[in-house]
Amino acid sequence: MRGLSIWAFCAVLCTAAEPPPAKLKPSAPDCPRGGFITQAAILKITANGTTTSPVPRGAFVQDRIFGQPPEPPPPNVAAVEPDVRGATTIRELLDKHRNNIACAGCHAKMDPPSFALESFDVIGGFRTRYRSIGEGDPAPRGAIDPFIGISFKLGPPVDASGALLSEQKFSGIREFQAIAAANSELLLKNLAQQFAIYAIGHDIAFNDRDQIAGIVARSHKQGGGIRTLIHELTQSPLFQTR
Ligand code: HEC
Repeated sequence: MRGLSIWAFCAVLCTAAEPPPAKLKPSAPDCPRGGFITQAAILKITANGTTTSPVPRGAFVQDRIFGQPPEPPPPNVAAVEPDVRGATTIRELLDKHRNNIACAGCHAKMDPPSFALESFDVIGGFRTRYRSIGEGDPAPRGAIDPFIGISFKLGPPVDASGALLSEQKFSGIREFQAIAAANSELLLKNLAQQFAIYAIGHDIAFNDRDQIAGIVARSHKQGGGIRTLIHELTQSPLFQTR
């Protein structure tokens, strides 16, 4: 039964381009999955259920992964209406405001990390084409609901490449993850802070920062594993004298 449910889950998540695995195993080097941000749960909560957008996914990555929450958006900014007819991709729609100086301050930093996540649809399924209800090629599983007669076609190709503000370029999810992982100190610091907030039950105070830095430095010296990080945290005065 358990095997069946895992298979059913994979059948939903995978497309013909990514056949369901016979059993769960560590992902192959060319597999788009692996790591926190490619998990279906994360991809699902960062999409609105109908469409994906690099903005909320980018904000999530910047906040939860890099520990640098973006400034809240200014009031009076109109929402982007996704083009369900499939003629213009969400990236093309957003390019306009990334090139606008009033918006670029936040969006040029926030949006690009999630371009790599464009390879994943609203429930985390891998995709190489967007869905379209207008122009497009016939889709193998084109009928969403045979009873209400809505169907979709294969729309424009997904472009999962991008460049960060640092001008580091990536062609897709794997390269983006490699760039992010190279900055392990940033990731470790954020993770240490998130674990510490959870463990001590309140935000990190100004005078806790040295202790966090110590935990990060000691974990980093021992290889930067999560297990080590948790050991260092639980042995620190920050945790033990909370
Ligand atoms: C101070 C930083 C900041 C500035 C400046 C800014 N934004 Fe945003 N914007 C944000 C944040 C943060 C979000 C919300 C992300 C989320 O959903 O959590 C957002 C969301 C959006 C969204 C919603 C996108 C979606 O898919 O849900 C649009 C559209 C948008 N901004 C357009 C603009 C435009 C156009 C400008 C310039 C006139 C602009 N923003 C300037 C920070 C900013």
